[in-house]
Amino acid sequence: MKAIVISRLGGPEVLEVRDMPEPAATAGQALVRIEAGGLNFADFMTAKGGYPGTPKPPLIAGREFCGARETDGQRVMGYTQWAAFAERLAAPAPLLWPVPQGWSAEEGAAFPVNYFTAYFAYWKAGLLTPAKPAPRVLIHAVAGGVGTAAVQIGKLLGVEMYGTSSSDDKLARVAELGLHHGINYKQHDYEDAIRDLTHGEGVDAVFEMLGGEHTNKSARCLRDFGRVIVYGSATGEKSTLDPRLLYAKGASVHGLWLTYLSANRELMGDAWKQLSIWTSQGHLHPVIGNVFPMEKVADAYRLLGEGKNFGKVVLKIATT
Ligand SMILES: NC(=O)c1ccc[n+]([C@@H]2O[C@H](COP(=O)([O-])OP(=O)(O)OC[C@H]3O[C@@H](n4cnc5c(N)ncnc54)[C@H](OP(=O)(O)O)[C@@H]3O)[C@@H](O)[C@H]2O)c1
Repeated sequence: MKAIVISRLGGPEVLEVRDMPEPAATAGQALVRIEAGGLNFADFMTAKGGYPGTPKPPLIAGREFCGARETDGQRVMGYTQWAAFAERLAAPAPLLWPVPQGWSAEEGAAFPVNYFTAYFAYWKAGLLTPAKPAPRVLIHAVAGGVGTAAVQIGKLLGVEMYGTSSSDDKLARVAELGLHHGINYKQHDYEDAIRDLTHGEGVDAVFEMLGGEHTNKSARCLRDFGRVIVYGSATGEKSTLDPRLLYAKGASVHGLWLTYLSANRELMGDAWKQLSIWTSQGHLHPVIGNVFPMEKVADAYRLLGEGKNFGKVVLKIATT
């Protein structure tokens, strides 16, 4: 079968389409014929060698996908830790979900990581139950994969949303999804912007995936009892956090890692129960920014690494 292989640690140039042996399913796995794969920042970090828990190269890349389960032909979307960017995958059976009616393979491949992560961010923020007055959330990288999913879910939860991006153009497109306040961080300091936009009160939660100084800055954006949900470090820098920022507001910082949470069947089941209701009602639509054939995988990684994507970057693995 054809597969995208991380040949050695490095940038997009280390990705190669190679012929690889077909996988065999062991207990708890199901064989899936893959049609499309969703590219995540984690894939970019895995190739560079910065992602915990993944084996050393050579390694088949890819952690989310859409395709057909071989045993019954059911169209499924799923989540794994690697090996998804291949024509066939032995996938963890509990992490396969039916593709919503009418969705393309690209949409299915763009769903699991972004929507489960965004859902769990609201869960960690204690904001899954709609409240009055509307809670405020600051979403970093709001125009990205997780960001656009968080906007769609936030709209359903009645949240007042603030979001950061490097580009006015991207912000205008997320506004169409329901973002209330776009902040171009290249032009304005987001901490100042949040202070101004909330009349000095701050937000109830920040979804923080930047790392470095941004954990402190995000904590300074909180109002009383607010929560920073930390779930990434796109800057490549280790988060710094001064706990004194939390004392005065009774605020807290929560970690979120889908790799870890995905092993918890009950939690994933509860999340899917709600997400599948929203998808069947037509409320959630993965935002596909770019689709690349697997031979152009290096271009896809480059686009994501340079932060030039809007929404999800998807790889077409096979045509059916
Ligand atoms: N913990 C988890 O379980 C989990 C799950 C999924 C994703 N994540 C994390 O969430 C973040 C977003 O992931 P994603 O796959 O949805 O990617 P993405 O948001 O589609 O792409 C990353 C975006 O981050 C923004 N960004 C800001 N500063 C950046 C920097 N220094 N370098 C690169 N990008 C920067 C860019 O948008 P602008 O130009 O608009 O700022 C870029 O488009 C990543 O950090 C990822 O590791 C964590």
